[in-house]
Amino acid sequence: MTRRLPSAPPLLPGLDYVRPLGSGGFADVFLYQQDMPRRQVAVKVLPANERDPDLLRMFNAEADVLAHLSAHPAIVTVYQAGISADGRPYIVMEYCPGSLAQRYRIERMPIAEVMAIAVRLAGALESAHRAGLIHRDIKPSNILITTFGSAVLADFGISSTLARSADAEVLAMSIPWSAPEVIAELTGGTVESEIWSLGATVYSLLAGHSPFERREKGQNTRELMRRRIARATFVPIPRPDVPDALQQVLATAMARDADRRYRSAAEFGEAVRAVQLSEGLAPTPLEVPAAEWTPASAGVDFADASARGPVRSHLEYEGRRNPAPLEPTARRYDEDTSVTTPPPPRRLVWPWVVGGSVALAGLVAGGVALWMGLH
Ligand SMILES: Nc1ncnc2c1ncn2[C@@H]1O[C@H](COP(=O)(O)OP(=O)(O)OP(=O)(O)O)[C@@H](O)[C@H]1O
Ligand SMILES: [Mg+2]
Repeated sequence: MTRRLPSAPPLLPGLDYVRPLGSGGFADVFLYQQDMPRRQVAVKVLPANERDPDLLRMFNAEADVLAHLSAHPAIVTVYQAGISADGRPYIVMEYCPGSLAQRYRIERMPIAEVMAIAVRLAGALESAHRAGLIHRDIKPSNILITTFGSAVLADFGISSTLARSADAEVLAMSIPWSAPEVIAELTGGTVESEIWSLGATVYSLLAGHSPFERREKGQNTRELMRRRIARATFVPIPRPDVPDALQQVLATAMARDADRRYRSAAEFGEAVRAVQLSEGLAPTPLEVPAAEWTPASAGVDFADASARGPVRSHLEYEGRRNPAPLEPTARRYDEDTSVTTPPPPRRLVWPWVVGGSVALAGLVAGGVALWMGLH
């Protein structure tokens, strides 16, 4: 596949560029130092030539859902999303010093640790699905390790929006973890295809390679891989310490027929928890949101531009002591700060207010002194 040259880091307000963190198929990730509050952040920058209004609308909608989801303990925390002055959509997120991209290939990951990761990710995915979002790119390189050593799922939704517009070759990178129906282009992604990818990711962490990868040279071309995934013959992980019950859970998650897989990510998570219990391990909590958290609607229609509405990001200044009564006709200022229109620079209101108050107090004091002098 043709490799892209990394883009230049954009100039972003309040952020100082530090160094590159890496590049994927269609985006570059940079380390920046945030000024207020001071902390390191990772900024994912998408291609500059994304002028497609539909795509940018989806980017907006997905950034909204992502912000909602990122409170989940197993989802990377997103601080901000926007568009740079040179027109590139970007996402500012928690800096994660590690990822599972390579670790499973170079070391034998302990079963207990992998099962704990599996349950955490199942909770993350279940939460996303309940919010109407399909990840579409679950794979080891999208599992990051936070500063506190926990595994978190990254590249939610936004990746898939942009991947759709990117070079089709790029998608080849995710083939090893894609469900047969996705490979056959029968669907772009469903809950069931996500369960497959989650199963294939957990399989990879245990086996040290993706499920349909062969050791022999020349056996892992795109075409051969596609064919093997289409047949979907489950090969148990050749590792004696993997319990049979766990092999069975993975075989169910990766059943060729989508109807024979787990019905939800939560169901997959519960199945792994049952294995943890039977192995004498403490089951990892399956973290899914409380019912009231879930948006009222069954799903988010990213194609519906009206769903988002205008952004209320600016309130006119009102004095604290004597707030002007809100006339029924008084309108607050609504402006659209979605990524299609970069927001105007914010003005600092308070120095003028403080300065104005001091000047006014001075004038009043002077007036009183003059009045007393005259009388
Ligand atoms: N929040 C983050 N903190 C630190 N590094 C990150 C963060 N997000 C991504 N990275 C790193 O940046 C690199 C590029 O990530 P990116 O998601 O663009 O590509 P990828 O996951 O390797 O492949 P793909 O394009 O298929 O998603 C990876 O090495 C990844 O580990
Ligand atoms: Mg990624």
